[in-house]
Amino acid sequence: MAFSLLHRFRKYRADAVAEFYQHIRPLLEHPQVQEMGNYIQHNCYTRLNHCIDVAYFSFFIAKLLRWDSKSAARGGLLHDLFLYDRKIDKEEAHHHLRRHPITALENARKVCTLNKVEENIIRRHMWLITLVPPRYKEGYIVTFVDKYCAVREAIIGQRNRRALALAEGAAA
Ligand SMILES: [Fe+2]
Ligand SMILES: [Fe+2]
Repeated sequence: MAFSLLHRFRKYRADAVAEFYQHIRPLLEHPQVQEMGNYIQHNCYTRLNHCIDVAYFSFFIAKLLRWDSKSAARGGLLHDLFLYDRKIDKEEAHHHLRRHPITALENARKVCTLNKVEENIIRRHMWLITLVPPRYKEGYIVTFVDKYCAVREAIIGQRNRRALALAEGAAA
């Protein structure tokens, strides 16, 4: 009984992962999306790593709730599609929190045709920091998953930095 349940869970997860990659593969292959791999988002995480994580968790939550998991995955992947370094570009850094969803949406429209849910996910993902909330329920998933991933990346980055400092100390 327990074995059968575990087997079914593993099969469900494997099928869901395959479905997730089927949804995002065409976008992942786009050069602009790949370019996100050249920018650091939080600590040791590139923007591409961050966006894939946001897309992945959002997809699974939406799928479990039987909501629009494809739009959650695609909107999640493209939600931070801006191609500048916040720390280097001081002009952009100043307005970054409010402006980057607009920039990401402009860039995402050049990558593929977006539906209205995906457009709104990208445009409103900074809600709570910005005032206007998402229009669709999938947007709430992405906005909260985004914040969870940012905190997680910051904590993991701190841990990695501390481990590196300890290792360097031990080697000295
Ligand atoms: Fe963002
Ligand atoms: Fe983000």
